[in-house]
Amino acid sequence: MQRPQPLADFLACLAASLKAAAEPGSPTALAVDRAFDRLATPGTAATPRPDRAPATQWLAPAFAAAKRGAVAPDRGAAANLASAFAAIAPGLAWQARTDRRSSDPNFPNAHANAVIVGAGGLEERSDVRIGASLLAPHTEYPDHSHPPEEVYIALSSGMWRQNDGPWRAPGPGGLIYNPPNIVHAMLSDAAPLLAIWTLPMSAPSTRPTGQAHG
Ligand SMILES: [Fe+2]
Repeated sequence: MQRPQPLADFLACLAASLKAAAEPGSPTALAVDRAFDRLATPGTAATPRPDRAPATQWLAPAFAAAKRGAVAPDRGAAANLASAFAAIAPGLAWQARTDRRSSDPNFPNAHANAVIVGAGGLEERSDVRIGASLLAPHTEYPDHSHPPEEVYIALSSGMWRQNDGPWRAPGPGGLIYNPPNIVHAMLSDAAPLLAIWTLPMSAPSTRPTGQAHG
């Protein structure tokens, strides 16, 4: 089976961006290799029913900012990734999660997640899960954890935190590695936060379709 070209292009850009930014031999690089070794064999193509959670109003500004980031030569791979992602983003099911506890009453309108690869995405498979998270400006995605390890690549400004540690801003094209089960959170600044997450799964996901974030 061959992948549809827009998805193949996106995955090639994602692999290039992750491999360019990950320190060779690091846990991040090993997780990326685990995921993309599996992705060498395509899964089953699927067509999600497109969905547009309210926060998707921030997608266009996030993509515009990511493309402006193309002027920084060391972040060129991330700008290409943003373009490749913009090509497939309209066909995804962008949904707000209903099982995250937030003190922000506007949280349901201020975030959206979409699965790209995995249940509910453009390619059904259970061994790798790839998706995106979008936060409106000045929004915190609350502490959460999950068994699979996870690599985020930021396509925007914004900050990440693990446990009670400091907030870290990887910058566009920068990576965050979350070991299995670590508590982590995200926080946007005056701009929307957009990031892609990749999870090599150790077991098939038990998440119901639509509960997208890994
Ligand atoms: Fe996560």
